[in-house]
Amino acid sequence: MMTYTRRNFIGVTALGLGAACGKAKADSGEDEIDLSSLARFVDPLPIPRKAVPSGLIASRENPAQKIPHYRISMREFQAKAHRDMPATTMWGYDGTSPGPVIEVRSGAPIRVDWINSLPSRHLFPVDHTLDGASSDAPEVRTVVHLHGGRTGPESDGYPETWVTPGHTTTAYYPNQQDSAALFYHDHAMGITRLNTVAGLMGLYIIRDEFEGRLNLPAGEYEVPLVIVDRSFRKNGQISYRVSSDPEKPWVSEYYGGGILVNGKLFPFLNVLPRRYRFRILNSSNSSFYVLSLASSQAFTSEGLSFFQIGGDQGLLPEAFKTAELILGPGERGDVVVDFSGTRGKEHYLRTKTANILQFRVADASVNDTTRAPETLRPIPRIPESAAVRTRELTLSDYQDRLGRSKKMLLNGTRWSMPVTERVVLDSTEIWSFINLTDDSHPIHLHLVKFQLLDRTPFDLPVYQLTRKLVFTGAAQKPVPGERGWKDTIRVDPLSVTRIIAKFEGFEGRYVWHCHILEHEDNEMMRPYDVVRAL
Ligand code: C2O
Ligand code: CU
Ligand code: CU
Repeated sequence: MMTYTRRNFIGVTALGLGAACGKAKADSGEDEIDLSSLARFVDPLPIPRKAVPSGLIASRENPAQKIPHYRISMREFQAKAHRDMPATTMWGYDGTSPGPVIEVRSGAPIRVDWINSLPSRHLFPVDHTLDGASSDAPEVRTVVHLHGGRTGPESDGYPETWVTPGHTTTAYYPNQQDSAALFYHDHAMGITRLNTVAGLMGLYIIRDEFEGRLNLPAGEYEVPLVIVDRSFRKNGQISYRVSSDPEKPWVSEYYGGGILVNGKLFPFLNVLPRRYRFRILNSSNSSFYVLSLASSQAFTSEGLSFFQIGGDQGLLPEAFKTAELILGPGERGDVVVDFSGTRGKEHYLRTKTANILQFRVADASVNDTTRAPETLRPIPRIPESAAVRTRELTLSDYQDRLGRSKKMLLNGTRWSMPVTERVVLDSTEIWSFINLTDDSHPIHLHLVKFQLLDRTPFDLPVYQLTRKLVFTGAAQKPVPGERGWKDTIRVDPLSVTRIIAKFEGFEGRYVWHCHILEHEDNEMMRPYDVVRAL
């Protein structure tokens, strides 16, 4: 049991362990490329391009106001993940994965037409026993969600509002929120994990004046890093291992055999001896990463520190130096790395199991006028007394006779059951996640940003017998990297994780879910309502 926990929490990238632990039985692992045999650091790191609006269009609220209008199409394309591999068929926004970076100003709304130009057959086997993915539903369906966006319900990408190839949906993003790195990705009911493995994700960066005044590294010195893990077959195609049961191909987690940064395996980046800002997104289906820097490829080597300045929802109150950055699926990290003083050297970004990106520092002298200030955006803590209600919500895992996961539930309820979380607009609530499983789950709420209150160990057997929470240790306060606004939070096994949020912005129907996409697709997702009054 504990090994499994460790796999998902500390083991983290779990190269190959998905199959080794017996939970995810490989159907055809033998025809996969052994990615560890590939030449290292031979491809330059691709930098996702910026999305360009196709023009201006009248805003919905105020027809006299013209707002940028983007048209982004989802397409199938071919790309090489590595110099020595055959091309891979992928799906991406505007034919790239990750898709183009949408960059906006805080307070300045945009409209995006999301055009589904995908083929009608999926790249991966659909499990028709999952809710929303039955055989009468079309195989290829998409709906785009802006993760971390305070978006009206009609534009939020509700999982059941998908469209099929040949159709377009229109979304308005008001961007009434602070600077932050959000991301857009697919959210179609029952196949989100497959659409994401195919490549449907991209960054969405909000900027504001406060951040602009900080004089952080910008332009070519601000680099997005979108991290996903994938396995590949010998013919270059992505391998998404499914279960041995053809009626129910769903597996409880996906761990790839290698890690792609901006779509490449083991890329390198030429840098100058100066400060860089990295906007890091873990867009993996299931993998958690503990990222660090090293000054050589040897696994014992140590290296530079990250100077972490932000998380999911933007700047932290205080920046801090750290050797490690932990990112679960859906989480973002914003760090500054200072390469000055290392002219002509090499550095590596690594996970617990692999060096995934090489930095080559030029032997040059540069005059770096940017800063990395310690005091950033003030974040007033929401007092617990502001909460009008506390909800205790369980995370649980149901297994079949063979001990395989069948489905995971939030609060013991399936997706199709009536809404249980009905929150009054502008009210503050505490949500207390009681993890009854032996995995960490990254729990994400749409619409709101929240603060982590604490994590407290509890007695699981007592809870199972009596439904009473008996704590077995002290409440752990957030670590520095979790002291900013969050939208996705790691809920560790055998712990109660409490968050506090003000539900502001819009009334309507949203969702909350586990961001391990296999879990999300198999019932670990629930609708919730923001209502004017109860
Ligand atoms: Cu990043 Cu509901 O999703
Ligand atoms: Cu979201
Ligand atoms: Cu989960």
